[in-house]
Amino acid sequence: MTDRQAQNIALIGFMGVGKTSIGRALARLLNMDFVDADAEIEKISKMPIPRIFEIHGEGHFRCLEYEYYREIQSLRNTVIATGGGAILDERTRAGLRENALIVYLVASPKAALARIGNDNSRPLLQTGNKSKKISALMAERDPLYRQTCHVAIDTDSLDIDTCAKKISQLHFELTKRP
Ligand code: S3P
Repeated sequence: MTDRQAQNIALIGFMGVGKTSIGRALARLLNMDFVDADAEIEKISKMPIPRIFEIHGEGHFRCLEYEYYREIQSLRNTVIATGGGAILDERTRAGLRENALIVYLVASPKAALARIGNDNSRPLLQTGNKSKKISALMAERDPLYRQTCHVAIDTDSLDIDTCAKKISQLHFELTKRP
C-alpha cells in the first residue's frame, strides 16, 4: 500500500450492495470526508441518472463517469462510494487503484435483489426479469471488481455498521507503518 493509496478509501461493488450507506458510516468512523460519485455526476450534469440514461444513453453516462473519476487525484482523506459500473473503464480502474485503498463489497445476486427491491432508480435494471439481469451483470463484473480491489468483504450477513467497522480495521492494518 503506497502513502497515496492510504489517503482515500474507494468502495466498489454491485448496485444495492450498500456502498453509499457503508461509505457514510465509514467516513464518520474514520473522520474522513465522504463523496458519492453518482451524486456528484448528477450535480455536474444537473440531471438525475435515470434521466441521463433516458435522454443521452448509457454511453454518455459512462463518459461522464470517466471524466468524474479522472479528478480522483485531487481527493485527500476521502471515502468514495463509486457507481456499480465505474470499474468497466480500464482507465478508471487504474486511477482508482493508484489513489485509494479499494474495497470490494461483495453480495450474492439474491442479497442484491432483496436490497434493490422495487427501487426503480437503476436504469440497467428496468427490465422484465430483474433477478436474471442481476445474475448476468454480476457474473460479467465480478472478475473486474476482484482485479481492481485490494480487499473483498462479503456483505451478505453484515449490517452497515459492522461492515464499516471491519473496513476501518482493514484500513488500519493495511496502512500502518512498522
Ligand atoms: C450503475 C450503477 C448505479 C449508477 C448507474 C449505473 C451500474 O450506481 O451508477 O445506474 O452500471 O452498475 P449504484 O451502484 O450506486 O446503484
